[in-house]
Amino acid sequence: TILVLDFGSQYSHLLTRRLREFNIYAEMLPCTQKISELNWKPKGVILSGGPYSVYAPDAPHVDKAVFDLGVPILGICYGMQELAWINGTEVSRGDKREYGEAQLSVVDHSSPLFKDVDHSKVWMSHGDKLYGLPDGFKIIATSENSPYCGISNEEKQIYGIQFHPEVTHSEKGKVLLKNFAVDICKATQNWSMKNFIDTEIQRIRTLVGPDAEVIGAVSGGVDSTVAAKLMTEAIGDRFHAILVDNGVLRKDEAKIVKETLTEGLGIQLTVIDAADEFLDKLAGVTDPEKKRKIIGNTFIHVFERCAAQIKPKNSDKEIEFLLQGTLYPDVIESISFKGPSQTIKTHHNVGGLLDNMKLKLIEPLRELFKDEVRELGEIMGIPHDLVWRHPFPGPGIAIRVLGEVTRSQVAIARAADHIYIEEIRKAGLYNQISQAFACLLPVKSVGVMGDQRTYEQVIALRAIETTDFMTADWFPFPHEFLKKVASRIVNEVEGVARVTYDITSKPPATVEWE
Ligand code: XMP
Repeated sequence: TILVLDFGSQYSHLLTRRLREFNIYAEMLPCTQKISELNWKPKGVILSGGPYSVYAPDAPHVDKAVFDLGVPILGICYGMQELAWINGTEVSRGDKREYGEAQLSVVDHSSPLFKDVDHSKVWMSHGDKLYGLPDGFKIIATSENSPYCGISNEEKQIYGIQFHPEVTHSEKGKVLLKNFAVDICKATQNWSMKNFIDTEIQRIRTLVGPDAEVIGAVSGGVDSTVAAKLMTEAIGDRFHAILVDNGVLRKDEAKIVKETLTEGLGIQLTVIDAADEFLDKLAGVTDPEKKRKIIGNTFIHVFERCAAQIKPKNSDKEIEFLLQGTLYPDVIESISFKGPSQTIKTHHNVGGLLDNMKLKLIEPLRELFKDEVRELGEIMGIPHDLVWRHPFPGPGIAIRVLGEVTRSQVAIARAADHIYIEEIRKAGLYNQISQAFACLLPVKSVGVMGDQRTYEQVIALRAIETTDFMTADWFPFPHEFLKKVASRIVNEVEGVARVTYDITSKPPATVEWE
């Protein structure tokens, strides 16, 4: 295992991810981690980048005991400046800040860190730089603006680099990280998704103990399903999955989830039909943020009520744990180092549950990225279609019915969405699209059907391509496809007179309409 000490760089999380790509397990902890409190010995340590200046009075610093571990250390950006500063070298603001691509020149080709790396493009993101070399160190690489772009003390196996090897813009970044972890640290390359499953199941069993019970909500999405499957493998019927039907799920969603999870995957699932409770509370509400709040709060009430009714079968104890399918990108904020005191932030949508029900959180997927969870899902036998499903927002169709959410409006939006997705699947386009859905607009438009004048609502179709949902572009459907979907929706869904296709990118628009 490699220890990554996180100084809060936006790229820190990519380090553990890259190492897993060559089957090395890495654990990321806040940079202030006391080495004496670790109950395992790392094969090597990486000090990440960070937004601070090492010389600032409140800058975070590494526990010096890390240097007594006698294992190789790699400092990246702030991490390198920290190594230098601790060893008495001047670090201060450079005359030029350096953001973006730079050309790396390897000076010392014999350095094991730069094996097969050589001259290549690297990604820089720093304002401070070194103004000298710490004792015992030599320069192993330079760049135009950073004479100390790579430094090393080969005897102590301490290395520092100014650029970020973990981002894909650094052409040979992966090679460099592999050189460090495999050749220099001699870390064992035995991490695999299969043994992740075994280790995680073992970890859950130890954590939960022989008789405690666990509860968790599922949504029909890949994350919560994979988490529920893992939990079932670990503790069987001491895990209780709950699906809250909030009245704004997709067509037949509750039924399909019930079938897949219970019959297909052997997960103990209770479906709660709380549609009326949600829809009654949503009556008269048109503000999107209010809709989200109502749905979030009602969810917590319904979930708590249901949890109280589920009597643990195997003991008279209360339910003790809450399972959450939180992924790494969701928790970066909570484990990343933020200022001099480290704050652990609970995930917004379960915060209430944890406090009110005095539950302890279990997040078996918290180290993984979405594509890794999909791989895990496939290995665990979760149906392919579920594994590759488009994301669906928690507030569901409520934020796709613009304006007031009523039962009849939800029914129209749901029917149109169903036709749209069905046609996308038939056309073989589903996997090329990141997310697609239909929105019902609160405006009426004139149409003509048969010899009758109609005056009905408008459906807007949305389909986007994206890698991270932060930016997105609309999907270029063939005209014939759009023609077919529009015709089916107007003909088959009562209450719709017109269909439009949304051709706005994000930004300036968002993915959802509300
Ligand atoms: P936006 O509309 O912000 O959407 O561009 C980006 C991604 O986030 C999803 N989304 C939500 N998911 N609760 C959720 O669980 C929400 O309130 C919410 N709002 C947006 C959206 O579907 C898209 O995938």
